[in-house]
Amino acid sequence: MREFTQKAPLPVEVLKGLMAEARGARDKAYAPYSGFPVGAAVLSGDGVVFRACNVENGSYGLSVCAERNAVSMLVASGRVNPVAIAVAGPPGVPCTPCGACRQVLAEFNPSMAVVLEDGKGGLEVVSLEDLFPRPFQLGESRG
Ligand code: THU
Repeated sequence: MREFTQKAPLPVEVLKGLMAEARGARDKAYAPYSGFPVGAAVLSGDGVVFRACNVENGSYGLSVCAERNAVSMLVASGRVNPVAIAVAGPPGVPCTPCGACRQVLAEFNPSMAVVLEDGKGGLEVVSLEDLFPRPFQLGESRG
């Protein structure tokens, strides 16, 4: 099985494949209220991909983002080692993870690679650290 670590940059074909998975998940989105479908695909260190979409609710505040649903899939499989996440918004619309999702992602790997669409048909890869420096940590707040 292919292994991925945070040390080496992820190969371009892996990043493209991860975005293809995110787009596939986006096509399953349940977003009748916002009309804004999102898909996310999380790559674990042992090379498995977990994908999910946003799931909205008529009680709007109960809607859950694609990224958090994808992390839940990873965790439910018994893994806690994401190395990358790709996020696909509506076709042609770049979408970065919301603040709540950044915090949840940082719980498992504060420096994971975040693969985004650049809105020009290409991909952009940023470190979660740069998107979300100094996540909340229980230890820090306890002093
Ligand atoms: N959404 C996501 O799934 N991920 C994000 O990072 C941003 C927003 C969803 C939530 C809601 O269902 C819709 O997009 C519009 O906000």
